[in-house]
Amino acid sequence: MTETLAAADDFSDRDAAARDILTQNDRGGYTVPTDGLYPYQWNWDSAFASLGFAEFDLNRAWQEIETLFSGQWDNGMVPHIIFHKPDPGYFPGPDVWGCKGPIASSGITQPPVALSFATRLLAADPEAGAARFAALYPKMRKWAEWFLKWRRDEKGAIFVIHPWESGRDNAPDWDDAMSGIDPQDVGYYERRDTQHVDASMRPTKYDYDRYIWLVQRAKALDWDDAKVTEGNPFRVADPTMHFILMRGLRDLLAAGEAQDLDTGDMATQLAELEAGADALWNPGMGYYDSYNCNNGIWSNALSNASFLCWFGGLDAPHMEQHLVRVLDAAPYGVPSLAPFDPRFDAKRYWRGPTWGMMNMMIGEGASERGVALGEEVRKRTREVIGRYGFVEYFDPMTGAAAGGKAFTWTAAVWLAWAGKEG
Ligand code: SER
Repeated sequence: MTETLAAADDFSDRDAAARDILTQNDRGGYTVPTDGLYPYQWNWDSAFASLGFAEFDLNRAWQEIETLFSGQWDNGMVPHIIFHKPDPGYFPGPDVWGCKGPIASSGITQPPVALSFATRLLAADPEAGAARFAALYPKMRKWAEWFLKWRRDEKGAIFVIHPWESGRDNAPDWDDAMSGIDPQDVGYYERRDTQHVDASMRPTKYDYDRYIWLVQRAKALDWDDAKVTEGNPFRVADPTMHFILMRGLRDLLAAGEAQDLDTGDMATQLAELEAGADALWNPGMGYYDSYNCNNGIWSNALSNASFLCWFGGLDAPHMEQHLVRVLDAAPYGVPSLAPFDPRFDAKRYWRGPTWGMMNMMIGEGASERGVALGEEVRKRTREVIGRYGFVEYFDPMTGAAAGGKAFTWTAAVWLAWAGKEG
């Protein structure tokens, strides 16, 4: 195990800078992930934003999650993007999605980290938060139930129907399923992301053609859950979604019991998800992994999502050796793909870079389960953010800043976790 990075830098001005980013990205009741590149409310970005706000404005923190749930569909799904106000600078916008929720939105969801984080807002001030938590509770349960009904495979693992649903857009986890899509009828479209960020840090045209093709397919099926799922060439069981939902259900159940709320079947649902986690164990590689539900092919990808097992509530002692290996190979935080994997690309979004919010879930989860390296993950995350700024993600080998600037969740992770010493 290599030594932790030298912690000689003075990061005493970073808290104020992080608060400024949250305030600047506040659009009135919701926070954009970053100005320009992502000009709307993104689901899991907002959940992290709420944790950041909770460090200095708990009322605003609650508002972030309440605004997110104002976009919840009748079926319980909470969209991954809510298009509160039109912004032609983003593609694909509301017309491409063609969805009919209460507010214009995308038609897919994102990892439900908001379920857990709402319980943290409650814990921060139970008296002030009880009524707001109780009002959100049935909505949160409904979202969890939607996952179990529409995103669970026959082995009990939670799957995604679009790479954007996982949030790990261009991870190698999706390569096998993506190769089965022929997007030749996708038509002309103009990407906007590469006008904001260097193309070498973003998904390729090969990926984007398939992203848009999947949206067009689901739109043609009127976003009907059964039709969209049936025969979908993209159904990939995903540790991100599975472990975060497990964590969400566990936290919701505990908080609901403490608040004397109706917890329904949540204890059974949680037990089922715990059993379903076994399906994500790749026996050949000896780690948690994703697989293509349509053909059973493993991704054989040791990703940062593999290490969310602890956040999900598993002991997972066999994962510790893998964390040692990736931290030895990459000095600046848990890389989104192990650097010794030939598919590793240090700057390209989810094919290598390290992400503050993933590091937070990995580090916190590990520490909670007694894995000492959890604190090492926090220290390295502190170093990389402190030295290289509140950017979207970082090259895990050099620490170099990558992706969007002045990024909400990186600032929030600093305030809520990485920047906290002792
Ligand atoms: N992350 C995707 C994008 O870049 C969508 O969630 O647009």
